[in-house]
Amino acid sequence: MALAIICSGGDAPGMNPAIKKFVDYVYKRGETPYFIYDGLEGMIDGKIKYAHHEDVAGILHNGGAIIGSSRSKRFYEKRYREQAYRNLQDHDIDGVVVLGGDGSYNAFEVLGREFPVNFVGIPTTIDNDIYGTEYCLGVDTALNVIRWAVDNIRDTASTFKRAFVVETMGRECGYLAAVTGLSSGAEICVIPEMNFNKNVAAHFLKKDLAEGRGYILAIVAEGTKMTQNIKEWLEEDIGVETRVTVLGHIQRGGNPTVHDRMMAFEFTVRAVDLLLANTGIRKAISYRNGEFVPMDISEVNNGKYTIPANILRDLHFLD
Ligand code: F6P
Repeated sequence: MALAIICSGGDAPGMNPAIKKFVDYVYKRGETPYFIYDGLEGMIDGKIKYAHHEDVAGILHNGGAIIGSSRSKRFYEKRYREQAYRNLQDHDIDGVVVLGGDGSYNAFEVLGREFPVNFVGIPTTIDNDIYGTEYCLGVDTALNVIRWAVDNIRDTASTFKRAFVVETMGRECGYLAAVTGLSSGAEICVIPEMNFNKNVAAHFLKKDLAEGRGYILAIVAEGTKMTQNIKEWLEEDIGVETRVTVLGHIQRGGNPTVHDRMMAFEFTVRAVDLLLANTGIRKAISYRNGEFVPMDISEVNNGKYTIPANILRDLHFLD
């Protein structure tokens, strides 16, 4: 059988280890691996090539994705989806492993409804916002990049007695901000999922400052669109000189952590096994309670991810 791998949407550390495992494991199973370059755009344009062992030598430790990725507007049009399907047929591709987030999952669900394309998704996004899975590839690396940045900011914040607002990525999901808020011991964490109670926060922060608190750290999820608002509130209401750091795309890069490498291997082996054992398969693999579980793609796409209650429980000033 011929199996292909594609990266789609925002890249995430863990893609390269998955790509390497894909090639090595498909060969090990006696089958033929292919790359689809440049995501859905490349699939439309027929950028599909046979993958060699040499292509994946020395890539394991790198962030990004050697086969490229893209966000595709053309894929919203059926004629381009049909073109992509024909390209898969031209290369006799029997199944596709999809590394991507919810946008990519939606794109493949539509494709799979219109054409007989077999695929298995691996949740891959730093946002950790996919329903049904506790973990998406890339999240651990992103959290550690953010941790490094916030630790550095804390050094200067404490020296200057300032407040710092650090904006994290995550689209509409506050997972990165929430875990960062906890693991960095931030005083403030603002996420889209909950209301930040300024009155309660102001009461405690002013009291702390009067008693000698040196600085304030605020983590704000980009999805709240409140970064500037929190800065102004800290300066005007709380009365602390405040700086803003928008971490931006630095969060998407970096060498995948050991956890992301190991998870990439596990997800990939299961995706390949599923494709080799089934036809008519349109699934995504979820990680739940320590197990890798195949779910129907429509179930994943119709659900909404929620941040675990134990994480929300320990954040301050949210209601
Ligand atoms: O989905 C991953 C992500 O990095 C989000 O956290 C962020 O909002 C978005 O992609 C940024 O997209 P782009 O790289 O297209 O600017």
